[in-house]
Amino acid sequence: MMTQGYFITGTDTDAGKTCATIALMRYFKRQGKTVLGMKPVASGCTLHAGELKNADALLIQGNASIAVDYQLINPYAYELPVSPHIAGVHNPVELATVVERFNSLKALADVIIVEGAGGWYAPLNAQDDISDLAKALALPVILVVGLRLGCINHAKLSYQAIQLSGITCIGWIAVCVDPDLLNREENIQTIKAALPVPLLGILPYQEQLDFELLADQLTP
Ligand SMILES: Nc1ncnc2c1ncn2[C@@H]1O[C@H](COP(=O)(O)OP(=O)(O)O)[C@@H](O)[C@H]1O
Ligand SMILES: [Mg+2]
Repeated sequence: MMTQGYFITGTDTDAGKTCATIALMRYFKRQGKTVLGMKPVASGCTLHAGELKNADALLIQGNASIAVDYQLINPYAYELPVSPHIAGVHNPVELATVVERFNSLKALADVIIVEGAGGWYAPLNAQDDISDLAKALALPVILVVGLRLGCINHAKLSYQAIQLSGITCIGWIAVCVDPDLLNREENIQTIKAALPVPLLGILPYQEQLDFELLADQLTP
């Protein structure tokens, strides 16, 4: 069977990529599919029994249908919360390594969701950025738009950049990360009119994240 795969990028760091990734994982699990996730490159990690681990990657690991080794989910775990091309200067990201781990995971599940890092042009090493990683994995992209002031511009720029990379963006997800945003609905309608791909869901603002409720909001 062909594994379904999606690459989750965002308008920025803190756009809601992890939130959307977990909601998507829950969504597909409910359809009876085995689901795995990956956070190939993570900056900002803490020691867990002597091993550097990242909160996003742990959440992705915990929401998977199958127990898999942390190193498969997150091959590059950098301690400092700085751009991977800086954090990883002594252990730079190699796309081939990520592709190899991805293929191992892909063989185990019906659906695999890969969360990027930062936005579309976030640098991963001296030559590659997130767009190169998405290309290497050959996955369709879902753009997560963090609804905050400035997000219309960021959504249009990101969508155009994805297109320029020659990658298919299959849709976008709106995540309400700012409870104080004014004219939320108008912002969503403006982005909807600007992007020629479907809005796959609006994830409401939640004081306490409830991924089951968030999964209800998705219609990929
Ligand atoms: N639906 C939501 N409601 C409230 N807060 C959210 C929601 N989604 C994300 N957040 C918060 O916004 C911040 C960024 O979200 P996250 O999913 O981690 O973004 P990214 O993965 O793009 O960096 C986090 O502090 C997260 O808890
Ligand atoms: Mg994240």
